[in-house]
Amino acid sequence: MLVLGIESSCDETGAALIQDGRYLLSNVVASQIEVHNRYGGVVPEVASRQQLSAIIPVLETAFAQAGCQWEDVDAIAATYGPGLAGSLLVGLTVGKSLALARNLPFVGVNHLEAHIYANWLRQNEQPREADMNWCEGDPEFPLICLVVSGAHSELVLVRDHGQYELLGQTRDDAAGEAFDKVARILGLGYPGGPAIQHAAQQAEDALQRQNKPIKQARKAYLLPRAWLRGTYDFSFSGLKTAMLHLAEGATQLAPEQRSTGHSGQVSRYVRMGEQSAQGGALDVGLLASSFQEAIVDVLAVKTRQAAQEYKVKQVLLAGGVAANASLRERLRRELAPLHVQVSYPPIEFCTDNAAMIGSAAYFHLKGGERHDFDLDVQPGLSL
Ligand code: KG4
Ligand code: ZN
Repeated sequence: MLVLGIESSCDETGAALIQDGRYLLSNVVASQIEVHNRYGGVVPEVASRQQLSAIIPVLETAFAQAGCQWEDVDAIAATYGPGLAGSLLVGLTVGKSLALARNLPFVGVNHLEAHIYANWLRQNEQPREADMNWCEGDPEFPLICLVVSGAHSELVLVRDHGQYELLGQTRDDAAGEAFDKVARILGLGYPGGPAIQHAAQQAEDALQRQNKPIKQARKAYLLPRAWLRGTYDFSFSGLKTAMLHLAEGATQLAPEQRSTGHSGQVSRYVRMGEQSAQGGALDVGLLASSFQEAIVDVLAVKTRQAAQEYKVKQVLLAGGVAANASLRERLRRELAPLHVQVSYPPIEFCTDNAAMIGSAAYFHLKGGERHDFDLDVQPGLSL
């Protein structure tokens, strides 16, 4: 079954032709990163206008790259939520219109579910060295999936296709959102995740060259971790606030001033502002490294706990933050002693793309699912 997948939930416009939910004939993504970079984040009104101008050329390129004709296509799928209403409307309307015009079945796809299905995608060529943890065959149920993107941080137990149990989610900022906001605080640009990863890597490489232990160096900026014990929920706003205080050069915070939004849940906090308080320069790379470690710490430990409690043999990573090398490596180390396999898609399938829409759609279509043309966008859609 050949599915045309369309993605337009935020600031990426994607079209892909996917065979049997796994095999890529083409996967085209037009990114608006440069447009939004100057604002330090996505501007919804600008995003929807950009979607409008990109969607037709992206579709044409997807067909050209796949060498396909309309006659080859069996079904059309588009994201209908969650996301920005204006952006979603563009892809969904185009998808439904094409399905109507071509008399093809149409299915709307949940963007979060699609991120999970990025783990089903295959490429013809061998996975690169860095992607060796990419699943060889289809992932096996039951599994735990950590979905971490710009708007979501969710731990999900997946018992079978379409059977999701939400174990926990963020109570405030999503992991990607924290990366983006902290990158802005540190003056590292948008999107924040890759910028922070890069700055952290440079600082860590420099320390290694000087034979200085990284763990020791990071102690200059010990940061809070909201463990929210007894739950699989996350909270990253306290960490973001700590970074803001550091950057503003605030003086040492008293313990009672710890700001996490969840009193008593922070096991470690430190605000070591000596450098900035004394007017010295902050080490941005080292700060980025400490921040990244704080996020990765919580995500990895909670995912390991969920894998243990639900006795799964496989953990999947999904969403833009799944592109983070430190998170991938840490999860692998955390789960290796339990003999739990950690898999994640290649980076281009972690961030928003239409191939994952085509994959998720295939499994719905195979089960006989279709949507009527009155399907509307659902910006707040959950799993
Ligand atoms: O899944 P995605 O492309 O869009 C949403 O559905 O939100 O995720 C985008 C998010 C951004 O917050 C971006 O900073 C983050 O993913 N991201 C990363 C990395 N690459 C992208 N975060 C950490 N490390 C990365 N390498
Ligand atoms: Zn996404």
